[in-house]
Amino acid sequence: MATETPTRALFMLFGGTGDLALRKLYPAIFNLYKKGSLSKHFALVGLSRKELTDDEFRAKIIDSIASETDDKAQAEEFASHFYWKSHDVNNLGHYAELRTIADELDKKYELEGNRVFYVSMAPQFFGIVAKNLKDQHVLSENGGFNRLVIEKPFGRDYESAKKLNDELTSAFNENQIYRIDHYLGKETTQAIPVIRFGNPIIESVWNQNFIKNVQVTLAESLGVEDRAGYYDTAGNLRDMIQNHALQIVSYLAMDEPNTFVDTEIRKEKVKALESMEIYDAEGVKQNFVRGQYGAGDGSPAYRDEPGVPKDSNNDTYAAGKIVFNNPRWGKTPFYVRSGKKLAAKQGRIDIEFKKPLVDIFAKGTKQPQELQSNVLSLLIDPKVGIVLNINTKNSEQGFHTETVDLDYVQSPERAAEVPLPYERLFHDILNGDGTYFASWPEVAAAWKFVDPIQHLWDATQPDFPNYKPGSMGPKAADDLLARDGNSWYYPNVR
Ligand code: NDP
Ligand code: BG6
Repeated sequence: MATETPTRALFMLFGGTGDLALRKLYPAIFNLYKKGSLSKHFALVGLSRKELTDDEFRAKIIDSIASETDDKAQAEEFASHFYWKSHDVNNLGHYAELRTIADELDKKYELEGNRVFYVSMAPQFFGIVAKNLKDQHVLSENGGFNRLVIEKPFGRDYESAKKLNDELTSAFNENQIYRIDHYLGKETTQAIPVIRFGNPIIESVWNQNFIKNVQVTLAESLGVEDRAGYYDTAGNLRDMIQNHALQIVSYLAMDEPNTFVDTEIRKEKVKALESMEIYDAEGVKQNFVRGQYGAGDGSPAYRDEPGVPKDSNNDTYAAGKIVFNNPRWGKTPFYVRSGKKLAAKQGRIDIEFKKPLVDIFAKGTKQPQELQSNVLSLLIDPKVGIVLNINTKNSEQGFHTETVDLDYVQSPERAAEVPLPYERLFHDILNGDGTYFASWPEVAAAWKFVDPIQHLWDATQPDFPNYKPGSMGPKAADDLLARDGNSWYYPNVR
């Protein structure tokens, strides 16, 4: 394996003792350090209003990376690069102090002015942090890089997202902004362009002539857990479909970029997202379905979960049909669905191909069953892999066709070595690679698609609850596909 030159960088992490930072971000940075993408030339300043000493902060870091290492000396050496600063994001004086600390650490660790500002805080703070960093001159001005990383959610509709984006771009250029979508850090999502454009046998049939429909399923078995405060104001359409599902759809639907670099890929993703048909109210009714889980098998209904209002109309499930007005996809539908408290935790993509125009095996008495469609399944999480089913003859006496799987499913040993999504994304940020981040035009196109759906849902009373925990969602989601002569492939087939 090629050894890479470690990147020199100073991280400033806003929300430095928050849940995300402690559970995901520090372990990801530690793994980069362990693997040599960061070396002795890095430092991190953790920031929030808390008063902590550097030692107290370092003890939290060691705790946070405990699952990643047994090597105490290495953990301590890593944590020695961490510094704490009590910082209120609204206090301008605190930014002047931060600038001084940043300059000192830059010298001490020879960081060449490279700075990553990671805003892992509630979204109302994203804009103000970016503005204050710029106005108070915390950005380095000596030729090093300045990169701003923004957590989700990026707005709650097109208007709020645009306002946020205007705030960010008054301080940073688009190519300095990294909008995190952790689904883009997952192995299978990252593999989509290679599976498509690296395999002529696949890409040559990747269009409406051969593909009957595409299904993206992001199913979760957990419920809302302790996140009602956020989730009840968001809902599944905003929380999973607008970002994760539509990003996956964009890699599946886009045309081939000229080269595999972020600027070219983004152009194609945007073109695909902008060609999604935007529904009017009637279109929304026909093409989108919402759901909310009721009680079942000893688990409470969503409306009885802690922190959820008893009359909440929030969607814990959403499914819909996307139609692309472009030459590649014509009327081949893309279906997306996502929900909480479903039968299983599984993210996957199922691509159903058209059957042969004439089934010669169905003639006479030789073939009692119809040929099955070929289905290419890309398994995202927790099972990771690629499965293609094809029709062949079975080995018994007499002539019968059967469908078999050609599959590659990642082994547990291999899975244990695969970088965590946040580790991959940090790696790309350090390398200035925006391939697996959402650009503003993509985010804008996704909101423009989602807004009319959300508006209609907000304006009409749903008949909730409408699905049982442990099911695959409301029946209306099955009817949606049935109207087109389709059905959900998962989990009906395997
Ligand atoms: P937390 O509520 O756990 O952390 C928020 C942090 O912000 C705390 O460290 C808090 O510290 C700090 N903070 C709040 N107000 C101020 C202020 N005025 N000045 C400075 N710091 C302040 O949030 P999460 O870690 O859960 O989430 C962070 C971001 O990540 C959010 O955008 C969220 O949507 C996103 N996210 C989180 C996920 C998760 O699993 N947690 C998953 C996906 C996305 P203090 O009170 O000390 O100031
Ligand atoms: C987050 C959503 O973005 O993704 C959560 O806010 C959801 O509601 C989570 O549970 C799912 O991510 P993963 O990686 O566990 O599938």
